[in-house]
Amino acid sequence: MAQPADAALYATGEKVFKGNCASCHKPDKDMTGPALKDARARWEGKGDIYAWVRNSTDVIKSGNAYANELFTKWNKSVMTPMALTNEEIDAVLYYADNYAPPAPPPGKEPVPAGEPQDVAFWPWMLVIGLLLLVVALSLGGVRKSLTNAVRETEGQGPVPDRSAWRSFKDWAWHNKTFASVLGLLLLTWGIVSAWDWALTIGVYGGDTVEHYKPEQPIRFDHTLHAGKADKGNLAINCVYCHNSAEKSKHAGIPSANVCMNCHQAVGESQRNPWSTAEIKKIHDATGWDGKAYTGTPKPIEWVKVHNLPDHAYFNHAQHVAVGKLECQECHGPIDEKMDVAEQWAPLTMGWCIQCHNEKEVKMAGNGYYDEVMARLEKNEKLGHRELKEYLEDEKITVKELGGWECAKCHY
Ligand code: HEC
Ligand code: HEC
Ligand code: HEC
Ligand code: HEC
Ligand code: HEC
Ligand code: HEC
Repeated sequence: MAQPADAALYATGEKVFKGNCASCHKPDKDMTGPALKDARARWEGKGDIYAWVRNSTDVIKSGNAYANELFTKWNKSVMTPMALTNEEIDAVLYYADNYAPPAPPPGKEPVPAGEPQDVAFWPWMLVIGLLLLVVALSLGGVRKSLTNAVRETEGQGPVPDRSAWRSFKDWAWHNKTFASVLGLLLLTWGIVSAWDWALTIGVYGGDTVEHYKPEQPIRFDHTLHAGKADKGNLAINCVYCHNSAEKSKHAGIPSANVCMNCHQAVGESQRNPWSTAEIKKIHDATGWDGKAYTGTPKPIEWVKVHNLPDHAYFNHAQHVAVGKLECQECHGPIDEKMDVAEQWAPLTMGWCIQCHNEKEVKMAGNGYYDEVMARLEKNEKLGHRELKEYLEDEKITVKELGGWECAKCHY
């Protein structure tokens, strides 16, 4: 591979590309959008490529001929607006112009995407268990034949065959203490498991039980769409689809039109040919016949995974925009592990309260609290017990701000 003349610029460009553009573009091949190689040359004299990348819709609306031609050619797919500097855009375009595919490490075939990589553990345990059983049984048989041989030389008949249950009872009779301790242990274990099970009735997340993971009308895969770009995934930002998470109570589920920003062009899956039928369902839902919207749209009926009872109040914006929490703190590694969305956290009151007890509120740079911070810095009297506590241990938890008050979470 030829080294690019400016390795640092290339590296910056690669980073910006993977973080912002890779979900729709490849440097050297067409995908949802055109190959970016030589894009700068194509724009020469035709328009402002920086303005285009920052907000393509505006350039299209301004009447730019080339932009409109592109837009029509690419089935009117909309490019996400990008808050990037000219330097960052220069870097991406440099990266695309000088792109060379990375060589696979010597002696190592790349694993085809979608191939199962980790082998399940329990079948091996089963095999080992069976082997041990066979060994134990044949050892038992060997011992019996040896005893019989000895008895024969002594002129006695062979040992009578006994049922397994008889042998067990005999063994227990001769080892009373050991057998009763074992019995007691088994009983305790039984009671504890039954108790644990009883506690988890109606709780679908957390570590104790199988996570709630309903089947969906379309097999939408978060690992492919939101997973990391360096693993070959599309790395689409969560709020591109769940766009109300930062502004309202609900995160929201995207409408099929959001999917069509890409799936109008991406009609089939290269990594999983069988799932092309799943993409077809998006087309059916929007009435797209491959060239135009002709049929009647009918909304996709996604099955809700998370369900808080009506008497509890939860607000996304409060946690995402004000609390600055990552989605994954509550929804787990959905972009890394969940090809089907599941309820990862238990959603019990204990779960909410535990985090409120531990979590330090990020005060600095948080608009909501800037005022409080300013007053604190001026050493103004606040009169709040909680804020006094802050001055004592230099941190404020959600609880200290009232996150344990019943009325905050209950209507
Ligand atoms: C959501 C998908 C999407 C994302 C993300 C995206 N693009 Fe695009 N891009 C498109 C589509 C689709 C087109 C074709 C024009 C159209 O339909 O608007 C396009 C066109 C372009 C063009 C014009 C290419 C040409 O042949 O003239 C450039 C340049 C471009 N994109 C750069 C970028 C850069 C740089 C990024 C990342 C910072 C980016 N795009 C992110 C979808 C996307
Ligand atoms: C391309 C669009 C898209 C992106 C990007 C995306 N999601 Fe989703 N998400 C969906 C759709 C569609 C559903 C409903 C279907 C399902 O449950 O799988 C969903 C469902 C969910 C659910 C379950 C909702 C329920 O019913 O309770 C959670 C939680 C979730 N997404 C979190 C995330 C997080 C966190 C990210 C970023 C790491 C993310 N999503 C990125 C489209 C997307
Ligand atoms: C503090 C924990 C927490 C954080 C952080 C969080 N969520 Fe949620 N999320 C929840 C709870 C709890 C529910 C169930 C809400 C309900 O049933 O009313 C939920 C429900 C959802 C749903 C189902 C639809 C809805 O709005 O009820 C989606 C989608 C979702 N979250 C996506 C996200 C995304 C994307 C992010 C990051 C931008 C995020 N969540 C951050 C706790 C969280
Ligand atoms: C930013 C672009 C983009 C958006 C938005 C998007 N997808 Fe995709 N999706 C893709 C690409 C690209 C592929 C194909 C990957 C491949 O060829 O292997 C894909 C593949 C799929 C597949 C096939 C699964 C597989 O394993 O390959 C399904 C199903 C799918 N998407 C559903 C959806 C749904 C439903 C939505 C809307 C909630 C959505 N997509 C939104 C880009 C997108
Ligand atoms: C991973 C940690 C975490 C979890 C889990 C969590 N929260 Fe929070 N919550 C926070 C943080 C951080 C804030 C503070 C945001 C801020 O700065 O106001 C907050 C604030 C709140 C507030 C506002 C409190 C106030 O004083 O105004 C309410 C109401 C709330 N959460 C409800 C819930 C409910 C209901 C659940 C469970 C379904 C929950 N939270 C789970 C971290 C969490
Ligand atoms: C941080 C948020 C939060 C606070 C503070 C909070 N709760 Fe809850 N509470 C919840 C959530 C969420 C549930 C639903 C849990 C479930 O369905 O398992 C719940 C459930 C309950 C239930 C019903 C139990 C059940 O099994 O359905 C009662 C009663 C209750 N809370 C009382 C209180 C009282 C009293 C207080 C004040 C001392 C309080 N809660 C404070 C979030 C909170």
